[in-house]
Amino acid sequence: MRFALADTLPHATSCDLLALLVSEPGSLGAAASAVDKQLGGRLADAARADGFTGKRDCTLLLHALDSPFRRVLLVGAGRPLGPEAVRRFAAVAVRAAGPVRASRVALAVPADGTAADGDVPLEYLRAAVEGAGLAAYRFDRYRSRDDAGPDETVLLARGEHSALARVARQAEIAVAATSRARDLVNEPANVLTPSALADLARDIAARDGLGCRVIDLDDAREMGMGLFAAVAAGSAQPPKFIVLDYKPEGAAPAAGTSRAPGAGSGSLGPRTIALAGKGITFDSGGLSIKTAGGMATMKGDMAGAAAVIATMGSLRDLAVPVRVLGIAPATENMINGGATRPGDIVRGLGGKTVEINNTDAEGRLVLADAIAFAVREGVGEVIDLATLTGSCVVALGDHTGGVMSNDQPLADRLLAAAKAAGEQLWQLPLYEEFTDAMRGEISDLKNSSGREAGAERAAAFMAEFAGGTPWAHLDIAGPAFNEDRKAPPYVPLGGTGYGVRTLLRYLESAAGR
Ligand code: BES
Ligand code: MN
Ligand code: ZN
Repeated sequence: MRFALADTLPHATSCDLLALLVSEPGSLGAAASAVDKQLGGRLADAARADGFTGKRDCTLLLHALDSPFRRVLLVGAGRPLGPEAVRRFAAVAVRAAGPVRASRVALAVPADGTAADGDVPLEYLRAAVEGAGLAAYRFDRYRSRDDAGPDETVLLARGEHSALARVARQAEIAVAATSRARDLVNEPANVLTPSALADLARDIAARDGLGCRVIDLDDAREMGMGLFAAVAAGSAQPPKFIVLDYKPEGAAPAAGTSRAPGAGSGSLGPRTIALAGKGITFDSGGLSIKTAGGMATMKGDMAGAAAVIATMGSLRDLAVPVRVLGIAPATENMINGGATRPGDIVRGLGGKTVEINNTDAEGRLVLADAIAFAVREGVGEVIDLATLTGSCVVALGDHTGGVMSNDQPLADRLLAAAKAAGEQLWQLPLYEEFTDAMRGEISDLKNSSGREAGAERAAAFMAEFAGGTPWAHLDIAGPAFNEDRKAPPYVPLGGTGYGVRTLLRYLESAAGR
């Protein structure tokens, strides 16, 4: 779907479907009233007749045969009006366009009523592009019949053109990255193997001028990544430890920063941000095997890696001003004669030993090596994303991520970025008792311990590998994969791309620090 910007008045816009947001219950508001006038009062009549009240996501569709717009769609915003209401409005409009075969949709982006000049807030335009673009997403490559949505969405917005165009472009990039992450999550595990993910990372690197290094099993073992290797031990698919390296245009090469990552000389510097994503392309649980039901959506256990790789692929387009290292330890968690047994003790990259008492607690193992890798590279901070625990879903539900961190300012910045992006994120604590619970009896650490505070204990385990480096962990087990038909209208079933918009907001604002 294409986007276009226009500053025509809604009632003078030619399109197949003109969508208007109604935010005042009981009144149509300025834009819809102008359209109503043009239609000789038929819109208000229809709203009255159908009992359209402006309740959130409720719609009214009316044909307008001899107007420039062929149909008009009223969408209720509920209250309060804000970016999230605009995101939903745009999504509802795009979803309504498909069934009536409207190919050109016009969205009247609302003003918030505070700006005296009637200009549209830039955050509303951004939300409109996000809502429309995210709602237009389809994963249809395996379907012989598809239900196409609109070809073009026109954003009707008043304001300074260059600022509007810049924000619309940023939002389009965020939509494209989110869609890419969704695709990766939706791809089945027989197609999206660790090798396939590595190939995609190489393609992205080649197109966007990123550094790329893919570390194979033998090299990973040799480097000391025994935790990553232990998870991969039972799999016929070769694991891939993927590293992408983004350097901003014209960055002054500080001493020692020109070499490729992986040498472990710790010289990337405090201004580099590392992103690490859990890349389990299928989680069977290993010998601590899951139930059939528990395995059903486990092709999506690489959603963290998907978010990281998709984000890395849009940093050049967004001209992000800081260096970013993207790390995706990718492997299946499967069973064969070589599989790790419960009780096996292995050594991680940081030197610590771990008793693997539950092979289904594999995400924290691959991430521990990824975090230790980033720390060894000398980055300034590490942010990991992982579909890590069912416990986090029990605590926060399936539409909210949990953030845990050893550095409160970092957690605060991530919470602010998530809020700006419209992704629900909530902090969970990291108390010392959680670390104590993860200490081993005959090893430094064990990888699982009881059912209490499962998300926090998993985080406490990983914190041991971050050492003194500021680190934050986003548990995205709930929001990464959607099975809820009542989710917001811009969130499809299956992969959601959760985390991408938060990361992009975070990185866009990183230069100011
Ligand atoms: N990938 C799962 C977590 C998960 C569960 C993601 C549900 C998405 C939806 C993870 O590897 C796992 O199995 N975690 C265990 C940890 C436990 C064995 C300590 C869990 O949460 O049960
Ligand atoms: Mn598991
Ligand atoms: Zn898992």
